[in-house]
Amino acid sequence: MLSELINDPNTGKYAVLITLLFFGAIETFGGHFKGTKRTVHDWLLEFGGFVVLGLCSAFGLFSVIYLGKLLLPDAYYSLAGLSLWLAVPLYMFTDDICQYWYHRSAHEYDFLWKHHRPHHAAEEMGVMVAFRNSFLYFLMLPNVWIAAVFTFLGMIPATVIGLIVKQLVVASSHSTFKWDEYIYKIKFLSPVMWVIERIFVTPAFHYAHHGKSKADNISDPNGNFGNAFTIWDQLFGTATFTRKFPTELGLMDDPKDSWSSHLFYPFIKSNKAGSEISKGYKKESTATLEAMTVELEAGTHLWCQCGFSKNAPFCDGSHHGTKIKPLAFEVKKKRKVKLCNCKHTKTGPFCDNTHLELKGTADLPLPMPTPSKTSKKKEVV
Ligand code: FES
Repeated sequence: MLSELINDPNTGKYAVLITLLFFGAIETFGGHFKGTKRTVHDWLLEFGGFVVLGLCSAFGLFSVIYLGKLLLPDAYYSLAGLSLWLAVPLYMFTDDICQYWYHRSAHEYDFLWKHHRPHHAAEEMGVMVAFRNSFLYFLMLPNVWIAAVFTFLGMIPATVIGLIVKQLVVASSHSTFKWDEYIYKIKFLSPVMWVIERIFVTPAFHYAHHGKSKADNISDPNGNFGNAFTIWDQLFGTATFTRKFPTELGLMDDPKDSWSSHLFYPFIKSNKAGSEISKGYKKESTATLEAMTVELEAGTHLWCQCGFSKNAPFCDGSHHGTKIKPLAFEVKKKRKVKLCNCKHTKTGPFCDNTHLELKGTADLPLPMPTPSKTSKKKEVV
């Protein structure tokens, strides 16, 4: 019976549905939808994304098997005999590392960011948030094609098992049922959780990725990219573990685009002025050849390093789609500071008069600074 189940490619689909229904039921009975901020656009986007992902997966499977049989007939089912001990890790690690880089690229390259942006426009979590991406994002999703290739090669049980584990992790990390929050409260389980969170993506780890701004000292919308495993984030320096949950989720500057423009961009564009997915939108540099003197309250502030913020010299989230991140800095008491706005200072966030050297040599808008600048938090007395 078990052997029949894991040899049936449809088991993966049923497992996805069962997981969604399970977490959906917990969210519903847990009162998640009472006082929800979700709009009709959110629901349509999430259910539309779910259908679109299903269609893209079916298309991927059909095309790979059809073309594979045509071009590489000998490869069909050629790895069916591979041990599950090898095939499962091979499938899961291949699938997850590809998704890590695809997801990270979707934050660092403007073209992909516009297709992943719907995911980050969600102001509250929930199991269906995982399906908020554009149609093109899902069509180019490497995982759709990897699952199809593994199926073509005959590694169906590995694909089914991998998909079940991945779906459990992904559904739980997006769900409002924050299972890890309960365990964090039990002190003696802390070392166990340390190990779990160093392997698997937990709700706290993924919620931080959805946080609105790094200024809360919990969120890192430009980190924690992992899908099922946190190992890639640790390996490539993008992991943040705080065991806390941000209270503000979503985009810093959200024009509230329609579900159809989110899902079908660039075929349908947003009619919201200033939206990144509206017709003719162009990211303009707001860097200036002058410093900005501002009075800051005590607390954490985010200095814009990309030069695109409309709230310069502070970050407003416009760096999404570039490799540049804001610099968080802590002010201990209320004080006046001179912040750099040419973005070429070597003593960020403060002006070091580099703009005086640039005057006459650089035209506005200034070229984008190099992305190698630190985003590590600084302290200011
Ligand atoms: S807007 Fe965030 S770094 Fe420029």
